[in-house]
Amino acid sequence: MVVVPPSASRLDAIESPTLEIRNITKTYPGGTQALRGVSLSLRAGVVHGLVGANGAGKSTLIKIISGAERPTTGEMVWLGSSTDWRRPADAQSAGVAVVHQQSPVVPALSVLENVYLGNEATGLWKPQERVTRFAALCERVSFVINPHTIVAELSVGDRQMVSILRALAQDPELILLDEPTASISPAERAGVLGAARSLAAAGVAVVFVSHFLNEVMQICDEVSVLRDGELVDEFDRDGMSVERMVEGIVGSRLHAIEATKPKHDVGDVILDVRGLQSTSMNSAVSLQVRRGEIVGIAGLLGSGRTSLLKAIFGADRRVAGEVVVNGQSLAASPRAAVNGGVAFVPEDRMSQGLIGDWEIWRNTSLADSRELSRRFRFLDVARERLLANRARRELGIVAPSVDTAVKDLSGGNAQKVVFAKWIYKTHHVLLLDEPTAGVDVAGKADLIKLIRDLAERGIGVLVVLSEFEELLSLVDRVVVLRHGAIEMEFPADAVSVADLTASVGGLA
Ligand SMILES: Nc1ncnc2c1ncn2[C@@H]1O[C@H](COP(=O)(O)OP(=O)(O)OP(=O)(O)O)[C@@H](O)[C@H]1O
Ligand SMILES: [Mg+2]
Repeated sequence: MVVVPPSASRLDAIESPTLEIRNITKTYPGGTQALRGVSLSLRAGVVHGLVGANGAGKSTLIKIISGAERPTTGEMVWLGSSTDWRRPADAQSAGVAVVHQQSPVVPALSVLENVYLGNEATGLWKPQERVTRFAALCERVSFVINPHTIVAELSVGDRQMVSILRALAQDPELILLDEPTASISPAERAGVLGAARSLAAAGVAVVFVSHFLNEVMQICDEVSVLRDGELVDEFDRDGMSVERMVEGIVGSRLHAIEATKPKHDVGDVILDVRGLQSTSMNSAVSLQVRRGEIVGIAGLLGSGRTSLLKAIFGADRRVAGEVVVNGQSLAASPRAAVNGGVAFVPEDRMSQGLIGDWEIWRNTSLADSRELSRRFRFLDVARERLLANRARRELGIVAPSVDTAVKDLSGGNAQKVVFAKWIYKTHHVLLLDEPTAGVDVAGKADLIKLIRDLAERGIGVLVVLSEFEELLSLVDRVVVLRHGAIEMEFPADAVSVADLTASVGGLA
């Protein structure tokens, strides 16, 4: 769909703010100062971008505006009157709707049930009225979906749209979108971006948090940059540029992704996938990865990229073929894969594997929760802490120490913990599904460097990345997947983003 760019003229016509935030500070119980004197205005009809590095305080601000956290000091003025929301329900009844970074949709319920979940007013409606109103909501954001589909069957992108519809069903004055596009495909992102613009056009005040600065450029009327809890820059479309945002986000510590890949040797075949097919794959797939080689899988959403990685890892039931790692054929189970030296960092990192109440080091030390009871007795605490400290340093995990509980980390930093828990345990093969989702600009560069270092040490890497520019900057070779089958293969330096876009869509 086409995203209508913001128009300058409408901005002039805007009156008093929907919400004014004055000098907000937030100190968490542990002592972390997440916000330091932030003031900003959110106005009807305006998409306000909020950018900043992992841990800069974006989600904290969203939580305060939505009543999920209370500010330590400062004032909020809602439609002209001072307000003090004590719980999410207060903000919600005032007219604030929020789509959180980790959207809690209920997989077992239908789209319709999710959209109206906990919305008491709808209890009075007849079933047909719900469907009609639902259709009207969908129309507002140009989204087409069967309301009776069970959410578990939807892609991550469609689930995100369900979260947006759910927020929209509250008929809000202000809608807060915390990284709504972090883990969805570029094609689906256009839908979410278009939805944000349509809402603003209908007079809603919109806050848009994203690490994709090009998206911010595309849809935001104005931008605030947070760094270490402080508002360091703000500008409207006249002053807006990716460079300015990057400068504000990273301050002085700007690392660029090395454009030229260091030349390195590739060794013997370390991963040999032979005619592999699982219950969730359309056809059998064969491919090889050599030691030291980084192979990218490019494909559209639904092309079977995640299914392929899962099948290699033995997470889905295998119906045909064989996976050979370092000369050994692996039984089809995650445990066999782990024992055979294979690690898998999945796409839905937040929903798997992290235990919020545990410290960073305890989370990074256990690669497989089924190992818990057995391994705990033998856990070498000093060694595990050392490893966690290394991860904290190399991945730039922002936390007071490795003893910080994971639930107290920002979204991007929690993702780095899941990443850490796998990568240092890889012996032979590393499978990565969207490794940079939710990670800030500087962090992406760190991560790409780290993946390259791992390859340099002789590990074979197979990676799915929707952002083709990033993919090409990382990998040695690209395999194109279409409808579950490998259609083409290119050396990364022989293909452009445009070529790749055409070929995944079947145009080349
Ligand atoms: N419940 C909590 N208890 C203690 N500290 C917290 C809590 N939630 C967040 N923090 C800390 O507050 C700071 C800001 O976190 P916040 O989640 O607002 O960052 P963010 O800008 O949303 O980052 P990301 O891009 O990674 O999502 C971080 O240092 C984080 O560790
Ligand atoms: Mg966040």
